[in-house]
Amino acid sequence: MSLARRHLLGLEGVSAQEITTILDTAESLKEISARPIKKVPTLRGKTVVHFFYEASTRTRTSFELAAKRLSADTVSLSASTSSLTKGETLIDTAKNLQAMSPDLIVMRHSMSGAPHLLARHIPCSIINAGDGTHEHPTQGLLDLLTIRQVKGRLDGLKVSIIGDISHSRVARSGIIGLNTMGSAVTVYGPNTLLPPQVQSLGVSVAGSMDEAIAEADVVMMLRVQKERLSDVLFPSLREYAQRFGLGMRHLAQAKPDVVVMHPGPINRGVEISPQVADGPWSVILDQVANGVAVRMALLYLLIGQEAA
Ligand code: CP
Repeated sequence: MSLARRHLLGLEGVSAQEITTILDTAESLKEISARPIKKVPTLRGKTVVHFFYEASTRTRTSFELAAKRLSADTVSLSASTSSLTKGETLIDTAKNLQAMSPDLIVMRHSMSGAPHLLARHIPCSIINAGDGTHEHPTQGLLDLLTIRQVKGRLDGLKVSIIGDISHSRVARSGIIGLNTMGSAVTVYGPNTLLPPQVQSLGVSVAGSMDEAIAEADVVMMLRVQKERLSDVLFPSLREYAQRFGLGMRHLAQAKPDVVVMHPGPINRGVEISPQVADGPWSVILDQVANGVAVRMALLYLLIGQEAA
């Protein structure tokens, strides 16, 4: 299996066949994480730089584990401990990293398009680990893998994405990936947190929580991104929780086999109640486990082919 691309900058333009290749590869690599010795030599001699300008728990840790489980050498760089604090530009930083011959750079940045800029200036492979409000393609892929595992397919499913659609790179990559794989996506949230002409993204818009949940096979809740809300876009977190938070009363109206997802980190009691987040319909920790497998698959497919 291989991918005819050097970078993964977004799910925009990634075909259903490529997504299937990534998910199938992730499935085949997943068992490595269940072994007593969680390591294979596939990427021995390869170097992966993790370059995170924004905070991360799940994405950064799972990329590190993915690279280490494939025996790549890894280096981690944070904005706060790099020479960016001395005024070095992003492109100069990237060119200096490139001079040390990495095979792949994983990058998270608060600026939409930052990984694309890097890809234009340096020759090594780049994976976008989340850029501003644009895309989070590896989250989109791990969500697709989780849904495929639970539901056995992706085509013909109804997936509702609820919350702050405007600021969510998870929603954007999710919508693109789900549409590519044949799922129907409905969104719901405060009008102030829906992008203008949201239907042009290829989604339907629900008029209420009940409508968003009634027919859904999968309900994906989004985090209220306090760090990206420059204006007051809803009255209070309490009111948000009452009107847009997922609680037990909603699951009583849902399909019996509905699955609840959340990319994390969770604002417990805001967009999702603790009982829902921790209940049997929740696949939130399966999403996290699948994050390692998907990132192993991408590292292997992007830089492991010639090493195999
Ligand atoms: N889902 C996600 O991107 O989580 P982190 O911000 O912790 O990486």
